[in-house]
Amino acid sequence: MPTASEIQAKRGGRELSRVVYGPEEIRRRVAELGREITEAYAPEDDLLVLGVLKGSFIFLADLVRVIDLPLQVDFLVASSYGAGTVSRGEVRLLYDPEADLEGRAVLLIEDIVDSGTTLDRVIPLLEERGPASLEICALLHKGKAERVREPRWVGFEAPDAFLVGYGLDHAEDFRHLPYIASL
Ligand code: IMP
Ligand code: MG
Repeated sequence: MPTASEIQAKRGGRELSRVVYGPEEIRRRVAELGREITEAYAPEDDLLVLGVLKGSFIFLADLVRVIDLPLQVDFLVASSYGAGTVSRGEVRLLYDPEADLEGRAVLLIEDIVDSGTTLDRVIPLLEERGPASLEICALLHKGKAERVREPRWVGFEAPDAFLVGYGLDHAEDFRHLPYIASL
């Protein structure tokens, strides 16, 4: 567990206010998710675990080690529209998975689903590629926005706060923390 001084460590004027999920709580929940996912698929499903970078990198690394099935790992990076940029509904993949999705069980791994916009943009692109199934596993699930697709697996129903650590960032900081804290 982090020390009080680590929690209070200031970076660029931002202060972590409290640990929301500690390392042991995360480890236990990830182990449960691993068991549920293991039971949901068969070895012949040709599972492809597809991480949405960058936020999912630590969660994915822990999760694949507790899934007891043959699987492959790949990643994607989706373009994001900054404030003031008008989305014309186009999505660009800045990094496109090299793996062939056709006929495979694809499990998309997200750090946090908030408005669902990211998933709403990425999922149609992946579905065009003819996966046998496409499910979502999100570490955190926030808010009550209307979403086109909901994750099948969620680690934690997150409080309405800005969370960092265990892959999640604020302006690229704090991703490496072994716990999830609110800013
Ligand atoms: P959505 O498109 O609104 O569902 O937002 C999803 C993305 O926004 C996530 O993949 C994160 O990159 C980012 N995000 C949303 N809430 C948080 C948060 O509390 N901490 C860090 N990143 C967040
Ligand atoms: Mg993200």
